[in-house]
Amino acid sequence: MKQKIEELKGRFEAGLSAARDEAELDALRVAFLGKKGEITDLLKGMRDLTPEGKKEAGQLINTLKNEVEASITARAEALKNEALERAIREAKHYNPTLPKKTDRGSYHPITLVARRLADIFSGMGFTVEDFVEVVDDYQCFEALNIPKYHPARDMQDTYYLENGQLLKTQTSAAQNHIMKKYGAPLRAIFPGRCFRNEATDACHENTFFQMEGMMIDKDISISNLIYFMKKMLSEVFESDINVRLRPGYFPFTEPGFELDISCTICGGKGCPSCKNSGWLELCPCGMIHPNVLIAGGIDPDEYTGFAFGLGMTRLAMMKYGVKDIRDFNSGNLKALSQFESL
Ligand code: DAH
Repeated sequence: MKQKIEELKGRFEAGLSAARDEAELDALRVAFLGKKGEITDLLKGMRDLTPEGKKEAGQLINTLKNEVEASITARAEALKNEALERAIREAKHYNPTLPKKTDRGSYHPITLVARRLADIFSGMGFTVEDFVEVVDDYQCFEALNIPKYHPARDMQDTYYLENGQLLKTQTSAAQNHIMKKYGAPLRAIFPGRCFRNEATDACHENTFFQMEGMMIDKDISISNLIYFMKKMLSEVFESDINVRLRPGYFPFTEPGFELDISCTICGGKGCPSCKNSGWLELCPCGMIHPNVLIAGGIDPDEYTGFAFGLGMTRLAMMKYGVKDIRDFNSGNLKALSQFESL
């Protein structure tokens, strides 16, 4: 029996290192652990042994079984990471200096990402809302628990119009309007263009896109927030994305978080893109502050909710490997036509 086990172990290890993808790994799993698999066969063979022999063989087979299970799980994880890295390498075909690809028009990468997000969220019961670009102080700040002279206003250098209105600095400016429009419960996303008086460089633009989302209902908790974010990001990147929350401060959330995703470039091992931390900061979010619910006409004793403000431009940069944010607004058809087939 011992010899048989050793021999089986050898064959399994050979099979494991030969498995190149998930399908092959699955075939290996069935061949060894399946109902008619080799290990199951060994267990059946124990019938003919003496009680002493049974005990010894049982232990050996169990150890083997555990080892095989653990190795398959570890290899599956490694294969998944390799596939992700490959997908990202291949997605990096974006190169703004290549000649224009087509004479036909093409969708802007932001449009592509926005549509993908709308698809994902509609599938989860969210409505997709449109909102204006010129808002008032109440919508952009006061209703979000940021009174006049609150220091949080300093974080968003705002373009004010002569009539006192302003260009919205964040999609959160639509929260109040949407709460009043639907009341609770509600699930909505609202993509939109935002404006801040930024000095532009490869990572900063004065005009960029965010996508806000809100879910308000009875008993909504941080677990719901994590679930929806994870699901959405895994679908956007077409692979399992790990997320982590760190505390973050936004006057309109309590508690507020910064949500990081495992680095899509190195799979979490650490690389220059994630400053060797294995994580990328992607999406501020939090549980909606009771004052914000009250301003929206929703009773915070009855309802709770989460909200997030996804940097959609940033997401498009990560998904398509665009290194300079200014390419998006350049109107450069050579750059934009790269996305024609995506
Ligand atoms: N509006 C914030 C910003 O632009 C981002 C944000 C943070 C949106 C937390 C949210 C949230 O909905 O809950 O910096």
